Amino acid sequence: MKYATLHLSAILWLSLCALTQAKEVRLYTQRHYPADKEFFAQFTKDTGIEVKVIKAGANELLTRLESEKAAPQADLFITTDAGALDRADAAGLLDKLNNKTVADRIPAGLQGKNGTWVPITMRARVIVYSKERAGKNLPKTYEDLADSQWKGRVLIRSSSNAYNQSLLASILAAEGRDAALAWAKGVTANMARPPQGNDRDQVRSVALGLGELAVVNTYYLGLLENADDPKDRAARAAVGVIFPNQSGRGAHVNVSGAGIVKGAKNRPHAVALLEFLTSKKIQASYQKMTSEFAVAEGIKPEPLQAKWGTFKPDLTSLHELAGHQEEAVKIFDLAGWK
Ligand SMILES: [Fe+2]
Repeated sequence: MKYATLHLSAILWLSLCALTQAKEVRLYTQRHYPADKEFFAQFTKDTGIEVKVIKAGANELLTRLESEKAAPQADLFITTDAGALDRADAAGLLDKLNNKTVADRIPAGLQGKNGTWVPITMRARVIVYSKERAGKNLPKTYEDLADSQWKGRVLIRSSSNAYNQSLLASILAAEGRDAALAWAKGVTANMARPPQGNDRDQVRSVALGLGELAVVNTYYLGLLENADDPKDRAARAAVGVIFPNQSGRGAHVNVSGAGIVKGAKNRPHAVALLEFLTSKKIQASYQKMTSEFAVAEGIKPEPLQAKWGTFKPDLTSLHELAGHQEEAVKIFDLAGWK
């Protein structure tokens, strides 16, 4: 009788635990887009799984994951840089995903080489030019931006920006240190002004006549085109888009991607969220709402993306960014790129 009572109370306790244990996925993310918030709310509505979000820079999140290694406080890690995901992988912070549904949706060349992360969206770093003033002899490669014919005509943001560091890391991976340093020096010499502002500001400045070429991530062209401010829409309309290095290694691309944290308490829920974010419906919604490229196969580009044209991405350098990021920062300093 005593045993039966014990047994019963144990069952009661266990079912109480099941009832009270939160159905949740704890997310560390570098992304800060309103669209993400909407998708997470939709996921919670569909599955009953809460998404608890902590936002910070990639390095801060990596430090945090490292310090919590013994008792992980996150289930899923999302960044806007393949290099940061590879650094997390190299530090042993991520688990293999082992999920066929997700893996089968995405081209292998875009997925982490060790099976520990998958992309969610992709962006290219492109050159834009003034349709009115840049002339006919337009650049075809990133290397052309360093050509002296563009002296005083190039607009590009600061070297402390991760997008430029990732671009220089890709040049380091493809061309080596000497070429990368020469390129950084050449571009610095060609700048129309000391680096300032964000990607969108460079496009606005081309439209204002402050320079003829700018470097920008593709989705910002979408954001300008869809902007409420007519000046922003006019700035977008004033520039043409060049996907660089199309007869060589391809245009520099980076991804927003996600990896399951090693030891994640809510692994099945984290996997469910990844299945949701890589589904056809959400992939198409990313394109519509953030103008990033879908990574799942078979998603048609939005009309405003189709206008940019099709392009060949540099998928080799994408997987070599982690090893070159530190050196990229040093080279920017050596070149005097503020
Ligand atoms: Fe951005």
